[in-house]
Amino acid sequence: MLAEAKYQCALVTGASAGLGAEFASQFAPDCASMVLVARRGERLLALANELEGRHSGLKVYCFAVDLCSIDQRQKFFSRLKSKGLQPDLLVNNAGMGDVGAFASSDWGKIQSMMDLNMDALTHCCHQFLPAMIAEQKGAIVNVSSLAATLPIPDFAVYAATKAYVSSFSEALSIELADHGVNVLAVCPGPVHTEFGETAKRGEQDRNVPGREYFYVEAQQVVSESIWALETGRTRVFPSLKITLAAVLIAATPLFLLRKVMANTSS
Ligand SMILES: NC(=O)c1ccc[n+]([C@@H]2O[C@H](COP(=O)([O-])OP(=O)(O)OC[C@H]3O[C@@H](n4cnc5c(N)ncnc54)[C@H](OP(=O)(O)O)[C@@H]3O)[C@@H](O)[C@H]2O)c1
Repeated sequence: MLAEAKYQCALVTGASAGLGAEFASQFAPDCASMVLVARRGERLLALANELEGRHSGLKVYCFAVDLCSIDQRQKFFSRLKSKGLQPDLLVNNAGMGDVGAFASSDWGKIQSMMDLNMDALTHCCHQFLPAMIAEQKGAIVNVSSLAATLPIPDFAVYAATKAYVSSFSEALSIELADHGVNVLAVCPGPVHTEFGETAKRGEQDRNVPGREYFYVEAQQVVSESIWALETGRTRVFPSLKITLAAVLIAATPLFLLRKVMANTSS
């Protein structure tokens, strides 16, 4: 392991695509070793090879795990322990959405979304925090969303899971203030990744007027998140336009937000 690296072991969930792959790439120069997790192991291996090729001395471990399954999570934790891998940076990025009316949603998909967005994220924090506290050193990046800041019809459960992530991260950050562990909630607006494909039901497409204007590149989301972590922030809304949107939402009374959101519903 590289003793001078900022992080001895960085664990990134959902590293097979989108923001997770970008987090892995941008954190890689600061890491002695990395653990990449997602279900599509072949994608993780391709990224691991690329990162090891680019950064001499970096060792990347890949684990194909369905994080919705508590059994698979527990087996994964045991395998990490048996390899002596103890993350001092945890990026809880894996997440999914579901677009459409709640009443007609598929329960299996809703359950998976809650398992992944909330249970798996919380379980990973619970698993890796004690060692960080013992070392008085560590960082947790929880990927939330701008969606955490308001109720979103046709995206109701997703927005609620992200409200959980933001609230949990804020409280954790206060609990850990004296333990040398930074906690950051990343709250992006829309980003072009595989997220939209996974979230939509069949061929349906939810066309929100003006939405395209709010898209931010994955690269910018991640670089601003790393900056926020390094400067000790607790929450970041990457890009100026998403920060302004968050400020506007926070300043709007709930009765007005309800009216605005009612007009976005299909
Ligand atoms: N894209 C956006 O507009 C946007 C906006 C705000 C917040 N976010 C948040 O950003 C995070 C990353 O999303 P993304 O946009 O990068 O989406 P993405 O391209 O769909 O990537 C999602 C990642 O999560 C992994 N994943 C999904 N289900 C999993 C499971 N059961 N077990 C393990 N890994 C699983 C996927 O890998 P496998 O399929 O290989 O398992 C993939 O690596 C999510 O938390 C999302 O809520 C996204």
